[in-house]
Amino acid sequence: MSKTTVSVIKADVGSFPGHSRTHPKLLEKAAKLLKEEEGKLLIDSFFTHCGDDLELIMTHTHGVDNKQIHKLAWDVFIECTRIAKNLKLYGAGQDMLADAFSGNVKGMGPGVAEMEFEERGSDPVMIFMADKTEPGAWNFYLYKIFADPFNTPGLVIDPSMHEGFVFEVHDLIEKRKILFRCPEECYSMLAYIGAPSRYVIKHVWKRDGTIAASTSTQRLNMMAGRYVGKDDPVMIVRAQSGFPSMGEVIEPFTIPVLVAGWMRGSHHGPFMPVGLCDANCTRFDGPPRVICFGFQICNGTLIGPADMFDDPGFDRVRQRCNELADVIRAQGPFEPHRLSLEEMEYTTLPGVEKAMKTRWEPIGE
Ligand code: F6R
Ligand code: MG
Ligand code: MG
Repeated sequence: MSKTTVSVIKADVGSFPGHSRTHPKLLEKAAKLLKEEEGKLLIDSFFTHCGDDLELIMTHTHGVDNKQIHKLAWDVFIECTRIAKNLKLYGAGQDMLADAFSGNVKGMGPGVAEMEFEERGSDPVMIFMADKTEPGAWNFYLYKIFADPFNTPGLVIDPSMHEGFVFEVHDLIEKRKILFRCPEECYSMLAYIGAPSRYVIKHVWKRDGTIAASTSTQRLNMMAGRYVGKDDPVMIVRAQSGFPSMGEVIEPFTIPVLVAGWMRGSHHGPFMPVGLCDANCTRFDGPPRVICFGFQICNGTLIGPADMFDDPGFDRVRQRCNELADVIRAQGPFEPHRLSLEEMEYTTLPGVEKAMKTRWEPIGE
């Protein structure tokens, strides 16, 4: 049986007003270009946006890191950039860091999460898409979903999950990776993933090597060497029958968690789960938010989406996120609302430091 690949590739190629949302003309164009490839390069496709990020969801049989699939996404972003420039949208083409496509969109600006798997009898997949935060934002949730029995009772009572999961963690600074087996190595793993600006969960696997989750780990600012917006990550999680159930996968989003991003990519703020109709960043350019689309995959076809956070069950976390936003906003330019100096390295702060350089004098002993 042939395997199905799910590729989620995203980029911010312009928005309105400011960095708040993608323009419908960009969405229309992306939809049309993807549709043209259905039955050819693609089996199926879907497009959406979260805040100012244009999200391409594609299914096919070509595996992960496929040159043609990545080129298709790149070409869609180029076409959409053209429209964004004509409309003078804000930040037109901002995530397109390279001049020309060179085989894989990784390292060129767009964010990528992909997975290839043999379809089960029925295969539910949850696709998470975020704006105004960074890839490490998923760490907390992936830990809760795949390693915390207080979130996922299936880890305790479902024999098919009882042995736990394997986490692949990437060190984005040293460019190295490691596998942690949980539950037995949970404490060691937490020592790293609790620092999400550097250590990021890239994949989660079942013990037999079956893929369970995949995230985007591209960090734009590190690629560009200057501030070009946050990295606004995406994540794919498989659910049910040997994986956490759909409800266990989305349950941790009922906890209001502070993540890095928000205004100028330089502030901690609450990560708010919202339905698509609220996937627009306004207050203080945020707050950071996440949408989740649920699909059934049927021979590569995307059955859905279901807008998972469009549910009164998530009203309370949204309210608590707003309360947290008020509390932390009151701190203005002070840490920990503003990110630590180390994390500000890729923002506009180095410019201030440069301007003040000659004014600093030694204190002396
Ligand atoms: C956050 C983001 C915005 C901008 C802010 C300033 O990821 O994109 O908060 O950083 O609106 O934008 P510029 O510098 O373009 O005026
Ligand atoms: Mg933007
Ligand atoms: Mg964005």
